[in-house]
Amino acid sequence: MSHLDNVPSTPGKFKMEKSPHIHSRLRWHSSTAKLTFWSFIFLALILIFFFRSPSSNPLPQDSFRRSLRTYNWGGPAWESQVRSSARVRSRNGITVLVTGAAGFVGTHVSISLRKRGDGVLGLDNFNDYYDPSLKRARQALLERTGVFIVEGDINDSALLSKLFDVVPFTHVMHLAAQAGVRYAMENPSSYVHSNIAGLVSLLEVCKSANPQPAIVWASSSSVYGLNTKVPFSERDRTDQPASLYAATKKAGEEIAHTYNHIHGLSLTGLRFFTVYGPWGRPDMAYFFFTRDILKGKSIPIFETANHGTVARDFTYIDDIVKGCLAALDTAEKSTGSGGKKKGPAQLRVYNLGNTSPVPVSDLVSILERLLKVNAKRNITKLPRNGDVPFTHADISLAQRELGYKPSTDLQTGLKKFVKWYLSYYSGGKKAAG
Ligand SMILES: NC(=O)c1ccc[n+]([C@@H]2O[C@H](COP(=O)([O-])OP(=O)(O)OC[C@H]3O[C@@H](n4cnc5c(N)ncnc54)[C@H](O)[C@@H]3O)[C@@H](O)[C@H]2O)c1
Repeated sequence: MSHLDNVPSTPGKFKMEKSPHIHSRLRWHSSTAKLTFWSFIFLALILIFFFRSPSSNPLPQDSFRRSLRTYNWGGPAWESQVRSSARVRSRNGITVLVTGAAGFVGTHVSISLRKRGDGVLGLDNFNDYYDPSLKRARQALLERTGVFIVEGDINDSALLSKLFDVVPFTHVMHLAAQAGVRYAMENPSSYVHSNIAGLVSLLEVCKSANPQPAIVWASSSSVYGLNTKVPFSERDRTDQPASLYAATKKAGEEIAHTYNHIHGLSLTGLRFFTVYGPWGRPDMAYFFFTRDILKGKSIPIFETANHGTVARDFTYIDDIVKGCLAALDTAEKSTGSGGKKKGPAQLRVYNLGNTSPVPVSDLVSILERLLKVNAKRNITKLPRNGDVPFTHADISLAQRELGYKPSTDLQTGLKKFVKWYLSYYSGGKKAAG
């Protein structure tokens, strides 16, 4: 029997009978041609699958791109950067992994921790939800203060496990998330990827870490939904989310409960209320209003269906940072070991707001005065895409237990934001957002 007899004529099929040499050769040629043909079709299908045009199916393509992106990490030089950034420089300092460190809140929290001598390591995937060059600029700022940001995704459990192997973190400040209410209409899966799957991936690694860290993480005022009476209190119901963003934040709070209950993780959720300030997020109204007022473009000012005011409990970034640090400092140790709970662990949730809601039209008037430009106001009905008309935090619990006391009013905070904005964008020469 020729040794070629066993080459299949159709992929997956084997020829068993004996044949003359010439027939073998002919069959071999036709088999090879068929094999080549089917391999070509198979390869073409794979290529079509990977390189479909984004416009043909933008949603799966985008989440696919994000979840499959690979990052370079590892190696002796990388490990030494990780260790050096996480080294504690003060007595009683803590060692904190800050996820979302290239983000708005993450940057400010990392700088404050580093300034008081805590060990800080950042983690961020630098996604393009908004201008990644702003995230790179924040990264450069952090580098100057001695904080290294590892580039990677919280869904990468191998990376997270490696970080916990290299550094025995005492705390995690978890700020990485898909933020923004309106973007959920465009890319819903990014919320599930970062706010649900990413959170579980992080908690899984934390639960098995030795020692287990205490975790403080960002929830949102959005969990209060549409029917909550003001001021919003932690005791109010939060099972009527008005947006997918809110639903994923609410899911996060429930997931936190499970990991606390089963694995003894110490968990503190912070419900932030509309945070603003220097190095802020270009997708937020105060930021793009500033940009559009300077460009002479009209800005949408929302009102409710019956011409009611839309207002927000705007909270200045420095107040939020103080709340985050107080939550870290009062967090008790996790009680689990080897993934198992050894005793009851701390589980908390706090509102971090400013307790003085301001109508969005007043925000615009303050910006007009600071920028010395009149805004082109376009009064529009609040679209039904997840935004709520009013937010107002009851912060008495955070006041009592964290010593949280916001001290910056909107006028003072916006002045600092506008000063930063004008210098960062060099008087509007560099394109914002
Ligand atoms: N800024 C606010 O007004 C506000 C209000 C309520 C809640 N929050 C919450 O506070 C946290 C911080 O918000 P922010 O305003 O700094 O947002 P941000 O978008 O500026 O920061 C989030 C950072 O996380 C990163 N990230 C997202 N998904 C990731 C992933 N899968 N892996 C690794 N990194 C990832 C992003 O690249 C970004 O740099 C978020 O959880 C947000 O939902 C913010």
